[in-house]
Amino acid sequence: ASYDMGGHDTYMHKEIHEQADAVDRVLRGRIDDRFSTVHLGGLNLDAREARRIRRVKILGCGTSYHAGMIGAQMIEELARIPADAEPASEFRYRNAVVDPDTLYIAVSQSGETYDVLAAVQELKRKGARVLGVVNVVGSAIAREADGGIYVHAGPEVCVVSTKCFTNTTVAFALLALHLGRTRDLSVRDGKRIIEGLRKLPAQISEILKQEELVRELAEEYAESRSMLFIGRVRGYPVAREASLKLKEITYIHAEAYPASELKHGPLALIEPALPTVAIVPDDDLLEKNRAALEEIKARSGKILAVAHQEQEKADRTIVVPKNEDELDPILMGIPLQLLAYHAAKVLGRDIDKPRNLAKSVTVE
Ligand code: AGP
Repeated sequence: ASYDMGGHDTYMHKEIHEQADAVDRVLRGRIDDRFSTVHLGGLNLDAREARRIRRVKILGCGTSYHAGMIGAQMIEELARIPADAEPASEFRYRNAVVDPDTLYIAVSQSGETYDVLAAVQELKRKGARVLGVVNVVGSAIAREADGGIYVHAGPEVCVVSTKCFTNTTVAFALLALHLGRTRDLSVRDGKRIIEGLRKLPAQISEILKQEELVRELAEEYAESRSMLFIGRVRGYPVAREASLKLKEITYIHAEAYPASELKHGPLALIEPALPTVAIVPDDDLLEKNRAALEEIKARSGKILAVAHQEQEKADRTIVVPKNEDELDPILMGIPLQLLAYHAAKVLGRDIDKPRNLAKSVTVE
């Protein structure tokens, strides 16, 4: 596919800057203010069926898997249904127990990833209900699924996913809200989440205005041989995705770890030459996260924080706007897309077509 780059030097840059509009699209026409819920026309799941779900299992690969990790947390928090995400590529090889009370959700930008498609087909052979959270309309996974949500990110050309990742996390917020409102989520909490969703596009624009600051930081970090990304609970999948993005387009080695696990091993790595990027949301775990920063600082580690307020222990903080706690992960990774992009630019990488990677892996 070839679309106009509209003055941007790469599709990645263009797609990063399209995110406010893209999020606007995934929300459009779906919010029901009267009942503080959302309408998801293609879901094909009535309230009675929704109430019978005992577990949710989300399957995807790469960036879509990370979006699924965020989705699982949202579903667990808002709908109080036990939920987790797993790489579809692992799931399909482990002869998993397929449970009739579990709702399976396949996540894919292209809708053509073979590992995901094969997992969906295996699930259907075993009588499971499978929904799709997919970007490309009419794609193989969309057709194979029993229903689902289109994420409406628009065409994504850069091999690494940015706007589709963001839109997929918003689509999961809609699903979590919808499932929550068929169960125990109150009208009041429904309203609170809807208000938060409506703030997203403007908040994304606000984040993107900080590009110059992020570019300067990227110049500094592009020299690193390796980087550590940490986050706790809501921040952890954000760290995972940011680390993947950096690896894919800069070829800098990066590792993501739960901040809570630092003391169980990775602290041994900390030294001035290994910078840490820490996701520090202003939620009930703020103090815990601050303690982790302190541990790193005490070992002369360099820290870049992405947070809702300036972090004293960090060398630099990128401050992002606060939303509802449950929705914060949608926004916190966005400055790190820019960080990866600008670091790759400094290093002269082929940003839209990183070596050894394809946009969608449609073969075994
Ligand atoms: C490119 O390498 C992507 N970042 C990759 O991880 C991708 O997310 C994965 O291959 C899944 O693709 P899909 O969303 O089209 O299924």
